[in-house]
Amino acid sequence: MTASPLPISSGYQCPLCEAPLIPETNNKTYTCIKRHSFDCAKEGYLNLLPVQHKHSKEPGDNKVMLDARRLFLEDSFYEPLAKAIALIINAIQVPNRVGHILDLGCGEGYYTRKLAELCQSSSQIKLYGNDISKFAISAAAKKQKTAQFIVASSNKLPYESNFFDIVVRVFAPSDATELLRILKTSGYLLTVTPGPRHLWQIKEHIYTEVKEHTEAAEIPDGFIQLSSQRISYKISPNAEQRTALLQMTPFAWSASEEIKAKLNAMDELTIETDFIVTLFVNNSD
Ligand SMILES: C[S@@+](CC[C@H](N)C(=O)[O-])C[C@H]1O[C@@H](n2cnc3c(N)ncnc32)[C@H](O)[C@@H]1O
Ligand SMILES: [Zn+2]
Repeated sequence: MTASPLPISSGYQCPLCEAPLIPETNNKTYTCIKRHSFDCAKEGYLNLLPVQHKHSKEPGDNKVMLDARRLFLEDSFYEPLAKAIALIINAIQVPNRVGHILDLGCGEGYYTRKLAELCQSSSQIKLYGNDISKFAISAAAKKQKTAQFIVASSNKLPYESNFFDIVVRVFAPSDATELLRILKTSGYLLTVTPGPRHLWQIKEHIYTEVKEHTEAAEIPDGFIQLSSQRISYKISPNAEQRTALLQMTPFAWSASEEIKAKLNAMDELTIETDFIVTLFVNNSD
């Protein structure tokens, strides 16, 4: 008698009962032992955000914000940041096996694509991305077939425990307990948060009194900080790119139509970018 092969773990767990999700032979449907099943969308992503876990109809960034972010990022303004992230990841030694990297709150997947392009041993890493916005994940999955994208909240991640070697979090929310659970022991967390003068010249147009961000990135419970670096440089986006930049930030809510028109009409505006890139290691047992 031949034993049937063990089902291959996908790294995903069922968002309804937390049992492992196993891909069926067509790789298009994932099912748990209780027969909860999830189909891949035509773009190749899985939606693991059940309706009962949604707090609104379309949570996360909407299509306008998403299109704006894509337009701006595709013009390479944040490429120096992407390169700095890749440099840190390239210096991390993952044991002799495929390393799992998660781009948490990945949006439309700009940094996930950059990681695939810039990480030295891209054949030795497997990239994953999650976001609560279906628009964002659909766009990310359409552009990158080498990464596995899911619609899921970072507050309740449908990944198996101890699955990831590295989690990258760029301007996105997270839950420290979930991060500790999905990371391997001694796994790494790399965060990007705004530095004190990030987009200062845009803020000057919007707020009567501009406040600096506090510089230090908060150390999430259970982690220890290994390094932190500040990356700042100036950019000169054109009118269309400036509008997109404003649209993709939370400042867009505070900007009147008059301010938006004024920013758009300027011949030139040099804007400071300012990022804090921090590396932490999982220090829990
Ligand atoms: C500022 S954007 C950053 C996106 C991407 N990391 C980037 O830098 O291009 C924040 C992202 O977090 C997502 N988001 C907000 N709340 C979330 C949650 N609870 N779980 C997962 N993603 C969330 C939004 O949909 C959005 O795509
Ligand atoms: Zn289930």
